[in-house]
Amino acid sequence: MKKLLTALRRWAVAGAAALAVVSLQPVSAAQAAPAPVVGGTRAAQGEFPFMVRLSMGCGGALYTPQIVLTAAHCVSRTGANTGITATAGVVDLQSTTGRVQVKSTYVYRAPGYNGNGKDWALIKLASPVSLPTLPIATTTAYNTGTFTIAGWGSASEGGAQQRYLLKATVPFVSDATCRSYSGYSGLVASDEICAGYAAGGVDTCQGDSGGPMFRKDNAGAWIQVGIVSWGIGCARANAPGVYSEVSTFASAIAAAAATL
Ligand code: ARG
Repeated sequence: MKKLLTALRRWAVAGAAALAVVSLQPVSAAQAAPAPVVGGTRAAQGEFPFMVRLSMGCGGALYTPQIVLTAAHCVSRTGANTGITATAGVVDLQSTTGRVQVKSTYVYRAPGYNGNGKDWALIKLASPVSLPTLPIATTTAYNTGTFTIAGWGSASEGGAQQRYLLKATVPFVSDATCRSYSGYSGLVASDEICAGYAAGGVDTCQGDSGGPMFRKDNAGAWIQVGIVSWGIGCARANAPGVYSEVSTFASAIAAAAATL
């Protein structure tokens, strides 16, 4: 029952955003990708220590020990909010070993967010957690190559949320190629970055929203380049995942975080 309520709340929140409606539209079971994030494998405990599961059914990443970076379509509005629980420190959401659960105190949603780009938000936690953070890309230098995606969302289109964190890698897709696909003409090139295989098979999916898309920087450290935002179905051919382009918002994120 609690799961159902969580799922409903997530749909209600996402439904407020036109953009998210596109990605959350039910699809026929016949189109569901059979693969086990879709096409993923289990992450090892501690592999991505900055990963956060949010109680409304979204992902996120620790931007600072007390601030989670997620998607705007995962939250309702800017303001005091004690209704979100962040779970971190575990790949298995049911394991109590190493699990950290902290409530939110405040939500900051990207100003001007209307379901078209600007899909980022910050959640202030009641107390700092002792886990590594994920630095964000502040230039476009890393907006290319192969990206890692991870989350507890559906492992197939229309499928259940996952108990264990799944991970996968997806290649960068240019704005021009991405926009050429059916359903992607509204891509906001300056705000959004696409990733996935033309053949499909590997993708983020419902419930992964707000989670990070990241890669290694030149020093070999993880750096966040995207935030799971939307897609047409999950892991379909010629239908990449769309991610908020973190470098575009880096200074706005930093400025907002400094006020929280
Ligand atoms: N909007 C979805 C969510 O709320 C994420 C969709 C990602 N879709 C994709 N095909 N990459 O969880």
